[in-house]
Amino acid sequence: MSDPVHDLVVIGAGPGGYVAAIRAAQLGLKTACVDKRAALGGTCLNVGCIPSKALLYSSERYAEAKEKFAEHGIRITRLKLDLGAMMARKEKTVTDLTKGIGFLLKKNGVTHLVGTASVAAPGEVAVTRIDGTTETLTTRNILIATGSEPSTLNGVEVDEKRIVSSTGALSFENVPEKLIVIGAGVIGLELGSVWSRLGAEVTFVETLDHILPGMDREISRHALRVFKRQGLEFRLSHKVTGASIGGRGVRLSVEPVAGGDAEELGAAIVLLAIGRRPYTEGLGLEEVGVTVDEHGFIEVDRRFETRVPGIYAIGDCIPGPMLAHKAEDEGSICAEILAGQSGQIDYDRVPGVVYTWPEIASVGKTEEALKEQGVSYKLGKFPFSANSRGRVTGDTDGFVKILADTDTDRVLGVHILGPLAGDLISEAVIAMEFGASAEDIARTCHAHPSMGEAVREAALAAAGRALHI
Ligand code: FAD
Ligand code: NAI
Repeated sequence: MSDPVHDLVVIGAGPGGYVAAIRAAQLGLKTACVDKRAALGGTCLNVGCIPSKALLYSSERYAEAKEKFAEHGIRITRLKLDLGAMMARKEKTVTDLTKGIGFLLKKNGVTHLVGTASVAAPGEVAVTRIDGTTETLTTRNILIATGSEPSTLNGVEVDEKRIVSSTGALSFENVPEKLIVIGAGVIGLELGSVWSRLGAEVTFVETLDHILPGMDREISRHALRVFKRQGLEFRLSHKVTGASIGGRGVRLSVEPVAGGDAEELGAAIVLLAIGRRPYTEGLGLEEVGVTVDEHGFIEVDRRFETRVPGIYAIGDCIPGPMLAHKAEDEGSICAEILAGQSGQIDYDRVPGVVYTWPEIASVGKTEEALKEQGVSYKLGKFPFSANSRGRVTGDTDGFVKILADTDTDRVLGVHILGPLAGDLISEAVIAMEFGASAEDIARTCHAHPSMGEAVREAALAAAGRALHI
């Protein structure tokens, strides 16, 4: 057989795939990237991170104008929501960014193909274009970055009109009078917040007795209190057993997890947000010998190589947090490994952010994980109500919590509920990457007045010497 045309063919142009393709091309590998969506950027740019954050930002401005401007002495007499304009702004943000990725692929010399790809054999990727024509790409390496899709629930059929996934919930034509969200996780809380701010009555049905599983429990308890104050309603420890669509909306059958009387809840629209699962349909993995675990995630080693030499996988379709920045890091590292360099990712240093208001951000171990692992830790906490910037802006809900090793003072975890938590967490990630102690953060000068001072004060509190509380 003649030499393969490509060094690398990437299947999927989400944050994992397109970043891998750019990095590989930068390192001199002849690279192609195939996606069945014409618009680049995958779930994240088209129906995930970007449109949801655009709507979160816009709806926050609307809620501020409605509820908070008056206390600043700004009176608006005829505030009006123009949902069409808000949606158009979201669409434009998405389109601009997806076009930007096209520009980046071109600039770096990556060949972009639109079509559905499958692995015909190690070293061969078959691509079927929208017009039905096919082509086989020959390549030294294949990288699978096909992402994930929403999980389904028996008896609750998504039609993207009355019962929607996150994709449908990004594009309602009107504000629903009542929205029921199944699952009080990241998607539910972000999109539930959007529609609640715009005027919907929002109720969550969640099987667990708490929201945001996996987060530090103290943070999730406080967040629940804040969200309830914002008007969101929660049926915790409840499960949905069925749904029916009628002329006036959706009827959901709901019952307590522990047993008890079932009840019916009605809503104009139901959002199903109970998690996501890896998407590997039609890739032909089994035929070439690539294995998946019991949840459908592709099995890879520390170099992201599957059981089949020359076939790699990254992002949402392999185990680990389903986050865009995790996919991006894996993409870069995998490309560097393919170019003969080395690299690895420390999953304990991957931050997670929930873009509600206040935001919720965390990195490293939770208190529950440290207890479970028998690690002796000390705790420093500082509330935004005692932070001068928080007072100035009126964002006083929440706190910073730092967990540090009792003996070495090394930072083990940082959890923040509060204003701009998603930006503040970067300081904690860098500190942890550098193996910093809580004292290192406490001795670092922080600008005044800034939200970051709450991080420093939490570090001081870990040594029992906070200054402003
Ligand atoms: P994806 O982005 O899913 O991309 C996979 C691509 O592969 C897709 O474009 C798909 O068309 C293509 N593909 C699949 N199969 C084939 C095939 N056979 N042939 C050709 N192409 C194929 N994460 C964050 O970090 N921050 C956030 O704020 C955030 N918000 C989110 C909000 C929502 C509503 C959702 C749903 C997700 C959000 N996420 C967020 C998660 C984030 O979108 C994912 O973790 C990320 O997109 C995963 O990247 P990926 O490259 O692995 O896969
Ligand atoms: P999730 O895992 O965050 O939350 C799902 C929730 O549904 C959990 O609380 C779970 O207990 C609950 N649940 C499961 N089955 C249920 C049932 N039958 N009835 C009621 N509740 C049930 O998943 P979600 O919100 O769908 O998000 C998927 C992924 O997308 C996230 O894990 C995250 O990785 C990514 N994402 C990230 C964002 C960010 O970084 N800001 C934003 C949105 C999504």
